Amino acid sequence: MINIRPMREEDIGGVMIIENEVCDFPWTPGIFSDCIKVGYTCSVLEENDEILGYGLLSVTAGEGHILNICLQPKRQRQGLGTRLMKHLLEQAQILKSDTVYLEVRVSNKGAYDLYRKLGFNVVGHRKDYYPSTTGREDAIVLAKSLK
Ligand SMILES: CC(C)(COP(=O)(O)OP(=O)(O)OC[C@H]1O[C@@H](n2cnc3c(N)ncnc32)[C@H](O)[C@@H]1OP(=O)(O)O)[C@@H](O)C(=O)NCCC(=O)NCCS
Repeated sequence: MINIRPMREEDIGGVMIIENEVCDFPWTPGIFSDCIKVGYTCSVLEENDEILGYGLLSVTAGEGHILNICLQPKRQRQGLGTRLMKHLLEQAQILKSDTVYLEVRVSNKGAYDLYRKLGFNVVGHRKDYYPSTTGREDAIVLAKSLK
């Protein structure tokens, strides 16, 4: 059975295996730990105690921000990212967020398509926002109103 629950410190080892496998520029364990400590919404999606993916959301002064979302490579394209995103959007609503923002690499067409399907709209462009294997890469900024 697949369920979504809060991320705990002891999950970070399993989270880092996915993060290191999927991302060219992975977050460090300390970043995940800090997000838990400051009280951001940090969620893991698991099946029979195995972490399949995770998503993190911060909400400040009515503004939500999806900080990270990632699935094991072999569990992508099975609707789990959609499920995790819907969970984070529900949490954002509970935390009285009016709008949720996120950034995505211009090259990440799959994630971009997922966000557009979930009702996010393009609201900006940040030049050279991300490190990339060839230098820097631009970000597309998307937002979804929850009002
Ligand atoms: C992006 C990510 C979270 C999406 O989760 P997912 O479980 O694979 O996505 P879903 O199965 O819910 O896909 C929903 C829709 O999004 C789009 N989509 C998602 N991944 C896609 C891909 N790799 N290529 C093309 N379209 C994709 C499709 O429209 C898809 O619908 P379809 O499968 O019916 O065509 C996941 O692929 C992932 O972890 N990628 C690596 C990390 C990453 O890029 N994170 C986002 C950083 S901004």
